[in-house]
Amino acid sequence: MKYGYFDDTSREYVITQPDTPLPWINYLGCEEYFGLISNTAGGYSFYRDARLRRLTRYRYNNSPLDMGGRYLYLRDNKSGKYWSPSWMPTRTKLDEYECRHGQGYTIITSKFNGIKSSARYFVPLGESLEIWQMTLTNESGSDSDLSLFSAIEFCLWDANDDATNFQRNYSIGQVEIAPLALERRGAGGEGLTVIYHKTEYRERRDHFAYFACSEKLAGYDTQRESFLGNYQGWDQPQAVESGSSSNSEAHGWQPIGSHHVRVHLKAGEQKQVVFVLGYHENPKDAKFDPPESQIINKQTVKPIIIKYLQPANADEAFNTLRDYWTMLLGKFQVTTPDTDTNRMVNIWNAYQCMVTFNMSRSASYFESGIGRGMGFRDSNQDLLGFVHMIPERARERILDLSATQLKNGGAFHQYQPLTKRGNNDVGSGFNDDPAWLVIGVAAYIKESGDWSILDAPVQYENETGSEAPLYDHLQRSIQYTLDRLGPNNLPLIGRADWNDCLNLNCFSDTPGQSFQTTTAKDGTIAESVFIAGLFILACKEMAGLTRKAKEERGDSFVFHLSSDDYLKFASDMESTVWAAGWDGDWFRRAYDNFGHVLGSKENTEGSIFIEPQGICIMAGLGIENGNAVKALDSVAEHLATPHGIVLQQPAFSQYYLHLGEISSYPPGYKENAGIFCHSNPWIMIAETMVGRGDKAFDYYKRINPSAREGISELHKCEPYVYAQMIAGKDAATHGEAKNSWLTGTAAWNYAAITQYILGIRPSFDGLEIEPVIPADWDGFKVTRKYRDVTYHINVTNPKHVCKGVEKITVNGRLVEGNVIHAEKGAGEVNVEVVMG
Ligand code: BGC
Ligand code: NOJ
Repeated sequence: MKYGYFDDTSREYVITQPDTPLPWINYLGCEEYFGLISNTAGGYSFYRDARLRRLTRYRYNNSPLDMGGRYLYLRDNKSGKYWSPSWMPTRTKLDEYECRHGQGYTIITSKFNGIKSSARYFVPLGESLEIWQMTLTNESGSDSDLSLFSAIEFCLWDANDDATNFQRNYSIGQVEIAPLALERRGAGGEGLTVIYHKTEYRERRDHFAYFACSEKLAGYDTQRESFLGNYQGWDQPQAVESGSSSNSEAHGWQPIGSHHVRVHLKAGEQKQVVFVLGYHENPKDAKFDPPESQIINKQTVKPIIIKYLQPANADEAFNTLRDYWTMLLGKFQVTTPDTDTNRMVNIWNAYQCMVTFNMSRSASYFESGIGRGMGFRDSNQDLLGFVHMIPERARERILDLSATQLKNGGAFHQYQPLTKRGNNDVGSGFNDDPAWLVIGVAAYIKESGDWSILDAPVQYENETGSEAPLYDHLQRSIQYTLDRLGPNNLPLIGRADWNDCLNLNCFSDTPGQSFQTTTAKDGTIAESVFIAGLFILACKEMAGLTRKAKEERGDSFVFHLSSDDYLKFASDMESTVWAAGWDGDWFRRAYDNFGHVLGSKENTEGSIFIEPQGICIMAGLGIENGNAVKALDSVAEHLATPHGIVLQQPAFSQYYLHLGEISSYPPGYKENAGIFCHSNPWIMIAETMVGRGDKAFDYYKRINPSAREGISELHKCEPYVYAQMIAGKDAATHGEAKNSWLTGTAAWNYAAITQYILGIRPSFDGLEIEPVIPADWDGFKVTRKYRDVTYHINVTNPKHVCKGVEKITVNGRLVEGNVIHAEKGAGEVNVEVVMG
């Protein structure tokens, strides 16, 4: 069953009934100001950091689902009947309803009793504010007298404190209600009133929020209980019910922003009302106006508010946003025989990659915004799907991440986006973390050709004076693993590797203890085959990078190690894997604290895991000796399901003290044999590496959300973005997805389909072309912007092979090999690729 449809021409997903199985959300903003918005206008906003600069409140884990957001209410003043044009929170049955989620905007349109309304929500580029444009049309056939109410609930900035420290925060809320007009006559804003939220502005904060409306107000409210009425909910606010606001001023308690506008519409008449909700900072020494007062200095904010309250300016900002996305998505466009592939690659997967780049795992409907900052391994992997869109921002991210690296080459597992400092609560010791920096940097250079990043001076542990070239950081990343080998010469796992729940040194028997940070063992025994594979991959990247960097940069640059040194590290580790990490039919997973193997036929539960099969083959293991095919056949036999590939089998039926969180989940969920989508693309990539395009694409389709749209009642999450997990075959709800949006699946699946299945892959030497596709495809076309050149690539497959390139011509000229590198300034280039 579907709850909507894809409108590919408009690049929108259109939801046609409001009661989707779960809130189906979207993100507003792609720079510094962000919002989450659901198909019924639920959600919240923040500036840069969902924990430390939360603008509006949201109550997670609430019932009914998704209560609280950017609400507008309409009231027919003749009958007293009121409704929510976004369905929530009043849940009045609407005569028409449609929600269009696009890139950075959402439009909710509905009709009730002849009044059509359409609210467009978005964040203009370059601004820290959001615009709600509400267009009302009277289609009732007679004149109407309407009231329009807005309502948001301010968060007292620190979302964690806001949700916990009530003895203090019930007494700190402050607002200001002030006229908008600029002092200069005719400068705009005459007669308009703005609600300012200024909690703690009188003391150490130099920022405030504002909520403005383009119309003269019939009234307003800033105290929640005055608007709602004691013991009344958002579904039945007293002000809306009675048709009048109480002009309340919040002193402590729960500051809100609500405007009340009277709208008289003749039959057929239309009117637009604009709301602007924003964040603003003042210089520390210019906070107040007059300076000796406690009144917010509004000199610099007023022109911004006035600008965006004008519909023409709002429209222009919206069009600029649309054009921006046309430009970003235009960097990779494909036409294949498969619609689900086309729309995911061309629109939704790329869009999701922007969101994961911005949010890491911090704020979604499944991530509270207060639990996690930017993950080290996560953000490095997120770059894979994002870097081609805005390489400059990828560069900045790499420098921020590496500045949190420890001197011993390890890494803070997370950093806080506002402070950009490593998060001590989570600390370090996840032994896979540093290797991901190499993968991230390699991806950046392959895309951009910007070798200068290697000598960018970067601090260690954010310490002034500790600056060293980024290349030094990469070397220390590699050294970190070499310094931490276990009894079998495999890398020690530390707190965990990519699988956060494989906590082999944790041994926690105390309820509520964090599996991630509790460490009861000294960590000198438990080893990870996964890190071994990742290390080999990272060493090969270092080898390629060093080779090419030498060519590009000559001897002026200090390379401590040579390309061959890295290849030697890789081949030594490879021998170790064959000696201790190969189980006969697949790669083993780990050795526990007792030195016992995991992910082997010797284990009755957890005898085969997906991760080492993916990463070891991606690192090139087993391609020549046939073991890669063996391992992949084992994956197909033991792990594949129609809904995707589960993480491991057999699922852990009980809690094992020595394994940690992985065994804490009921069988079939999350890391305990759920379909943990992030690792599925590794198998797709591995399948391409052994040339099996049919299999790779088959796995791709199983978790492609668009291909699952028809089973939305089972899948439950949004059909336009990947979810972190789909319940595995051991779960009662096999096929049900959870934790949509913020997952490494976005970047990896984008890499799997674009770089390995379609095979258009940036390399150190240029654009490599190596498609591994389903044999029944006749071919496909790609437009790829790469290092300032636009490549129009036409791939034909006359012999219906999965793999193999017979010839490539560039602008009609035959080229040798399959790496193309047009000169900068070449403009548009036509590439013909014949498979065979
Ligand atoms: C989840 C993991 C996650 C980890 C870190 C665990 O509870 O299952 O997927 O990576 O927490 O927050
Ligand atoms: C989600 C985390 O964000 C990621 O870092 C981890 O690799 C996976 N869970 C697997 O545990």
